[in-house]
Amino acid sequence: MKATAKAHANIAFIKYWGKKDRVLRLPLNSTISMNLSEAYTITTVEFSEILKEDDISLSGAQFFAEEKNRISKHLDLIRGRVGKKIFAKVATQNSFPKGAGIASSASGFAALTLAACAALDLSFSEKKLSILARLGSGSASRSIPDGFVEWIAGESSETSYAYSLQPADYWNICDIICMVDTRMKKISTTSGMDLVQTSPFFQARLTAVETNLEKLKKALNEKDFKAFGEITEQDAIQMHAVAMTQNPPVFYWNAVTMSIIHAVQLWRNEGLGVYFTIDAGPNVHLICEGKDEQIIIEKLREVSGVKQLLKNKPAEGAKMIKEHLF
Ligand code: DP6
Repeated sequence: MKATAKAHANIAFIKYWGKKDRVLRLPLNSTISMNLSEAYTITTVEFSEILKEDDISLSGAQFFAEEKNRISKHLDLIRGRVGKKIFAKVATQNSFPKGAGIASSASGFAALTLAACAALDLSFSEKKLSILARLGSGSASRSIPDGFVEWIAGESSETSYAYSLQPADYWNICDIICMVDTRMKKISTTSGMDLVQTSPFFQARLTAVETNLEKLKKALNEKDFKAFGEITEQDAIQMHAVAMTQNPPVFYWNAVTMSIIHAVQLWRNEGLGVYFTIDAGPNVHLICEGKDEQIIIEKLREVSGVKQLLKNKPAEGAKMIKEHLF
């Protein structure tokens, strides 16, 4: 059977940086995120007895050999459930540039998991799908459920999964992604976070995360945007402070990233409710309430070096769709 799934990327307000189990991708801390309406992956999967190997393609760009291997390994996990080695044709399309700090691995592995399970007629619960997606890429676990999501760190594969805290229409907040460099990042998240324990600030961040997680959930429940933005920004800075103080250090920011950070601080001093967060790349995500989106977009025109903007609302989780890519 041919099956197609659509999954959105997500932005983490409390981030994942470091694993307690590298193979199972068990994170050191629980995390909270929101699915992004305009950043998504569509993937079609069809298994066939005729194929001698997986046939994997990405429209408009190319997968490297190691990425194809990672996809095949993930397919192995899923086809293992039906007990036979049957290869698949996989076609994928992203709405945004791959590897530029917008979590393409999150939407990619979430869409792949859902489509591959459906193609094999495996009907799994949302929790099970989130666990499976996590094995492909940690953040992919969060792209399975709807809207605002918590990924519980857990202590084992079965206890590390994401669930929806609130649906997509719960809160009209936006994530304006400021793309400053759309090339592949030089250091992948997987290898970047491998050396997390070499930072002297590693333990301090984990301690801070425990408090921030609870504070962020409270701010979400109360729709307290100021508290929500402040905690989001703090966690992003703390995550990057850890990355920058690892040995060897990992710097994801560039000069334009820094200009945007300064502009956000200035705009906030002028009374605008806008906060930043940054994943493993130089692009900056500006978090604001829906009512302020337009004014922030206008202000961003004053910042040189911003190549493109992607305006996102909260989005639903991974879903099956009828239109196939082949
Ligand atoms: C900085 O989920 O891409 O975006 O599990 O190794 O594939 P792997 O890592 P990945 O890491 C995301 C890291 C982050 C923060 C976050 O989204 O939580």
